[in-house]
Amino acid sequence: MPQPDARTLPLDAESLAALERRGFEYRLVDSTDPASARAYTEAESRGFLGGENTEEEIAEFREALGYRRWTGVFDAPASAGATPVATINSWVGEMSVPGARTVPFWAISGVTVSGTRRRKGIARAMLEGELRTAAAAGIPVAGLTVSEATIYGRYGFAPAVRVANWEIDTRRAGWAGPETTGRLDHVDRESAVAVLGEVHERVRRATPGEVDGWEGRWRQFAGVARGTEHAGRIRIVAYSDAQGEHRGVLVYRITEDDSDFARNTLDVRVLLAETREAYAALWRFVVEHDLVHRVRARLRSVDEPLPWLMRDERGLEATVRDHGWVRILDVPTALQARSFSAPVDVVIAVEDPLGFADGVWRLSVDDSGSATLTPTDESPQATLSVRALGAVYLGGVRLSTLRWAGMVGGSPETVAALDRAFASPVAPSLGIWY
Ligand SMILES: CC(C)(COP(=O)(O)OP(=O)(O)OC[C@H]1O[C@@H](n2cnc3c(N)ncnc32)[C@H](O)[C@@H]1OP(=O)(O)O)[C@@H](O)C(=O)NCCC(=O)NCCS
Repeated sequence: MPQPDARTLPLDAESLAALERRGFEYRLVDSTDPASARAYTEAESRGFLGGENTEEEIAEFREALGYRRWTGVFDAPASAGATPVATINSWVGEMSVPGARTVPFWAISGVTVSGTRRRKGIARAMLEGELRTAAAAGIPVAGLTVSEATIYGRYGFAPAVRVANWEIDTRRAGWAGPETTGRLDHVDRESAVAVLGEVHERVRRATPGEVDGWEGRWRQFAGVARGTEHAGRIRIVAYSDAQGEHRGVLVYRITEDDSDFARNTLDVRVLLAETREAYAALWRFVVEHDLVHRVRARLRSVDEPLPWLMRDERGLEATVRDHGWVRILDVPTALQARSFSAPVDVVIAVEDPLGFADGVWRLSVDDSGSATLTPTDESPQATLSVRALGAVYLGGVRLSTLRWAGMVGGSPETVAALDRAFASPVAPSLGIWY
């Protein structure tokens, strides 16, 4: 089904009024207007503690993110091209859900409020405005990646995707995986943009929590985005199968240790693999790289084969943390979009302080894993806060854990039945920031 273009939707009237009462103007920013785009880019960069952007960086930002809805908050009255005191951008993307399916979601990014206008309720007005706009457009889920884990719970978001950051001592880890077939070749940075996009597009649906990318993201990974620091140090290797098809791609950077040339560090910027062979070949390339002692990789799944392919799995240390945050806006549409792992028939109540997802439904999952939600006035057998529902939505968090945390109510038997249904056979993951 075609999804709405977020740029064309009207501003939320409630947030407009709330900000106006405090002396602010809330308005959409025209990214095609050079002066407005420059001012918006500058505000966002400053909000994220970045430096002033060069003309080239501004052009890159505009081209890469022009498909999004840009909203700014300004000191009123604001002239055209004025620098916003707050920024937010959003678009309708696709989020992968259990069962190799996808759900349309309202992606939110670039949330900043100037340090000079902080804690005046501007972020709250912007976030609530985004959620109302998304809900009015019929988008069932919202999502974001976050700078701090303390900001978004109050709007009903919860961490649904945890990821692992790895530090690998390559000599200790060693390689104990299979002999690898296929071929690895270095690819130039310009050509890598398309390879990254193609491989990502083919792999993302298999893993709940992954989202569709955009060309600007691949340009950044490949180091061809204007303004990329030390772009020339970024290297790319692609894996091709016997038919010559690209089935995997690795982008990495090596930092030299000039006191010992055998102790360099390799940073994996991204490693995408569509097949087992591609996965093994690319990781073997990394782990056995000459003159590399240490490997760092970020945003890896919490359940990956790599430790099983090493001689000594203690050569890999993983730190797990929240990454993909989910907010359910429309319970029946969101739940019916994913598949479930076991049949269940339970009356659930969802409690949402902001009202979007409040309600009571009979959740019936058939033997094929398809769910039907029917509104009911029966008494609920399980009660979930909207945050709990967001957390368990992708199947990586157990309801029974949240029951212990007081976020889910119901008998242990009912919650265990829901656990079996909600669990995803594939651990959710998310390999990019958005
Ligand atoms: C985070 C940020 C957007 C908040 O903006 P703000 O306008 O000051 O926030 P508000 O005044 O609307 O605050 C709304 C609520 O969030 C709370 N809050 C705001 N920032 C918070 C933070 N960093 N940690 C915890 N709580 C925070 C406020 O205390 C307030 O709580 P309450 O209304 O529930 O009592 C702003 O501080 C900022 O730009 N930070 C730097 C950039 C950043 O990290 N952006 C987020 C990217 S994911």
